[in-house]
Formats: sequence, structure tokens, C-alpha cells
Amino acid sequence: MAVVKAENLTVTYGNRPAVEGVTFELKEGETLLLLGPNGAGKTTLLKTIACFHREYSGELRVFDRSPCEARDLIGYVPQIQTINVKVPLTVLEVVAMGAVYRRGFVHFKLPPEIIEKAKRVLGFVGLSDLEEKLFRELSGGQRQRVLLARALISDPKLLLLDEPLSALDPSARVEVATVLGRIKRERGITMMVTTHDINPLLEIGDRIMLLSKRLVAFGKPEEVLKDSLIKSVYGPLARVVPVEDRLFCITGDAHVHATGVK
Ligand SMILES: Nc1ncnc2c1ncn2[C@@H]1O[C@H](COP(=O)(O)OP(=O)(O)O)[C@@H](O)[C@H]1O
Ligand SMILES: [Mg+2]
Repeated sequence: MAVVKAENLTVTYGNRPAVEGVTFELKEGETLLLLGPNGAGKTTLLKTIACFHREYSGELRVFDRSPCEARDLIGYVPQIQTINVKVPLTVLEVVAMGAVYRRGFVHFKLPPEIIEKAKRVLGFVGLSDLEEKLFRELSGGQRQRVLLARALISDPKLLLLDEPLSALDPSARVEVATVLGRIKRERGITMMVTTHDINPLLEIGDRIMLLSKRLVAFGKPEEVLKDSLIKSVYGPLARVVPVEDRLFCITGDAHVHATGVK
């Protein structure tokens, strides 16, 4: 059974399509890297799969259900810049609330079994030492790992990650990519990851999607990471460079309206 199956999927805001006529299938345990310039529809696609945005036509099945029916199986990690860090929550509280929200609790006394579980997932992302620290005092890479733990606490079968490497310095990118590798290998969770910088994630990418409103390419890394395809969405300065036995992808920070494929 496919974890995600989209057929001729068009997602709109009002009458304006943000994602148009997209067809692909993602199998259990696979990691999909979702690549495309700003405005390409990456966030929109993730939000539609997570049932946060419901204006679409065509077929979209998640675990052979509608996205909203599959909600309990999905973990969604938003772009870190959208998190409000004014509230003085501890790391442990931020993680525990991932489980509390889902169960619909409104009171603030966290049940002990949820605290225990929060501690376990914090251990998994390597942050046991920081449980009592305030979330807002953490570095970008640490915050991103806390958000991963918050998603993992409800045992998702599909993880959707929006730009988990953006706004991080190179060493923090490697740190977060390493945790994503552990999630894939040790938990076997199917993942969709949007990213501008594909290079730290190439090791875990089974499938790559190039999106520019429409699907430009979808397939194995060696099929999609071709100079001509990358240039067609990121413009003439983008390149794929072979370095020893691996590929290196230079894309810059293009915007879909400047370079997009119609
Ligand atoms: N809430 C919204 N209302 C209207 N248009 C939106 C909304 N969110 C995104 N869009 C539009 O949809 C298109 C795709 O946006 P988005 O999915 O955020 O792209 P990406 O994540 O690839 O940068 C853009 O043209 C954007 O302006
Ligand atoms: Mg986005």
C-alpha cells in the first residue's frame, strides 16, 4: 500500500492553483526530498497532505484514506520561523504538548506517562540534558530537534517536515540531518522533507520531487538530479556537480516567478 498517493492533484487558494496536476506515489519507509524554488507549492502540498488545507481536486490518499481521516497517523513539523517563542515553555513542556494537543486536553497538568514519553523522545533526538531549559534559549539546531521530538511523541507513521534545515548554520544542518537519518533507520517512518539545501539530506533521500507548481520531475536521486532539470526550475546558475562518488546540488535561492516552469 502506498503511504501517499496523489493523482492529478490540484490545490488552490480561492481560484488560484498553487499546486497543479501533480501525480506521485510514496511507499512505506521511503524518504522523499521535496525541492523547488520559493512559491513552488512545497508548503501547500505538505499542508494538504496533513489536512490543514482542504481546497483540492483530483485524488489524494494517505494510507488509503482521505488526508483528514489519516490525521492521527501524520506528524507535521512546521517551518521553525512560524513558532511563537515568546511563551516561556521548557523543552520538556514543548515536547509533551505535542501529545497533549492531539488528545484534546486543555488543562495544563501534564500526565506522568506523557512526561515519561517526552523524556524518551528527547533522548532519541539527543537532547536529554536540556529538558528543563526554556525553548526560547536554545540554538536553532536544538530547537529544530525539539520540534522533531514533539512530532515523534505521538508515534506518527508519516512525518512531514517543512524546511527543517532552513535558518541553520552548516554544522546545525548536519546535526538535524543526522537525527532525520536515525528516524528513518531506527523507526522506519515514511518522510516528506522540503528543503533548499538538499546536500545534507541526499544520503536519506530515496525519492526526489522537483516542484514548480507543476511536477517537473519525480524519481530516484540519480534520475532527478540532472543539470538540465535543476536549471529548468532554479535558473541557469544552478548546477549539479559530481564530487567523488556523490552529487552536489547548487541551487541558490530562486523564486518561482523568476525561473519557474509553466
Ligand atoms: N494562505 C494562502 N493564501 C493564498 N495564497 C497562498 C497561501 N499560502 C500560499 N499561497 C500561495 O501559494 C503559492 C505556493 O506557496 P507555498 O506553498 O508557500 O510555496 P513554497 O513553500 O514552495 O515556497 C504561492 O504563490 C503563494 O503565494
Ligand atoms: Mg514553504
